Amino acid sequence: MAIRNIVLFGDDILKKECRPVEKFDRKLHQLLDDMQDTLYDANGAGLAAPQVGVLRQICIVDVGEGPIELINPEIIATEGNQIGPEGCLSLPNEWGEVSRPMKVTVRAQNRKGKWFEISGEELCARAFCHEIDHLHGIVFTEKANRMLTPEELEAMKEK
Ligand code: NI
Repeated sequence: MAIRNIVLFGDDILKKECRPVEKFDRKLHQLLDDMQDTLYDANGAGLAAPQVGVLRQICIVDVGEGPIELINPEIIATEGNQIGPEGCLSLPNEWGEVSRPMKVTVRAQNRKGKWFEISGEELCARAFCHEIDHLHGIVFTEKANRMLTPEELEAMKEK
């Protein structure tokens, strides 16, 4: 268990395509455990492997219902639309208004390599999309309609 350094926006690592995971071994489990520690230490809703410098298709989402580990994830269905604020641990204190599906179904492998499907709505759907984007070198700023102003950020913090 260890907290890893989070790669910040501007680093080329965040623009790269991640390779699929092929080995579901102890090294992967170690990485997942470390990513979980790193996510909770940073108080985030999700973290992708490239954000800790590993170019593999691995991410974790936790919107308050426990950690969901997604390995080699793929979005297989979407429904509806939502527009709302979105942030990223690689861009502390910057938020953007991003349009995402309201509901998303993901197919992924767990840490043992077993395939499963999971659906998420609202914040969970947003987090799935955001983290899976990271695995393809996409940061939310590319998809944001606009970035939030400092005043809007202040108002958000007070909530
Ligand atoms: Ni992010």
